[in-house]
Amino acid sequence: MSDFEGLRALVTGGASGIGRAAAELLAERGARVAVLDLDPSPADKPLLAHRADVTDDASVREAVAAAVAGLGGLDVLVNNAGIGAQGTVEDNPDDEWHRVYDVNVLGMVRTTRACLPHLRASAQAAIVNTCSIAATAGLPQRALYSATKGAVYSLTLAMAADHVREGIRVNCVNPGTVDTPWVGRLLDAAPDPAAERAALEARQPTGRLVSAAEVAGAIAYLASPLSGATTGTALAVDGGMQGLRLRPVAR
Ligand SMILES: NC(=O)c1ccc[n+]([C@@H]2O[C@H](COP(=O)([O-])OP(=O)(O)OC[C@H]3O[C@@H](n4cnc5c(N)ncnc54)[C@H](O)[C@@H]3O)[C@@H](O)[C@H]2O)c1
Repeated sequence: MSDFEGLRALVTGGASGIGRAAAELLAERGARVAVLDLDPSPADKPLLAHRADVTDDASVREAVAAAVAGLGGLDVLVNNAGIGAQGTVEDNPDDEWHRVYDVNVLGMVRTTRACLPHLRASAQAAIVNTCSIAATAGLPQRALYSATKGAVYSLTLAMAADHVREGIRVNCVNPGTVDTPWVGRLLDAAPDPAAERAALEARQPTGRLVSAAEVAGAIAYLASPLSGATTGTALAVDGGMQGLRLRPVAR
């Protein structure tokens, strides 16, 4: 497919996991793609790499300006950079709540703010936010993380309403547990990594983790000019975890 031929895309957190898979897929489908990341070094050609911290407004503005100059404009923004947090509502101090909100929610605000003037100049403008199943399902030990993703979901709808008449579509993807370096780190930290992986796999009706490529496919679907009538939606990419209610396997 070459539905992104001639289009220019920017992916935050594009040096690893879901962001990297999305950046590579958009490039394969014809886009010129820049990634913006705390550590952009793993992103190689044809991706254009820019260092930025989404918690630092000046760094975001500088990196977005450099990326847009390198790309020659901007049509697609993928707001994907994010970090995890574990625990119940009792387990994290205020500082940690502020830190995770700063990356997961305000990071999207800062990047979008810097990109909007450029997106307004595009005839095929689209924003895709990486949300999570944690926004729509109650997961144990994820109070802070889930609250940030609930905010991302609502922000997606509000942004879609604000910018629809400017020709900018805004959607989000809601992945289940995805096999990325992040989840690898979580598994490595578990007392029994194999048992933890088995529990995560069993939670998804497909019986396996989602792949980064599968989330990238959904991001590309939402960002594509072929999806010109789709805005204000959340697309679950979760192996059926949100929508299905299976009977237990008979033993
Ligand atoms: N892996 C999962 O199971 C899963 C499930 C649902 C949603 N998500 C979401 O997907 C997104 C990507 O997750 P992933 O699993 O690919 O993680 P990852 O850790 O593999 O990649 C995240 C990338 O974001 C970058 N990043 C982190 N903080 C940043 C900052 N302050 N400024 C700029 N870049 C920063 C990191 O350097 C890294 O390259 C996140 O928003 C996450 O919440 C992940």
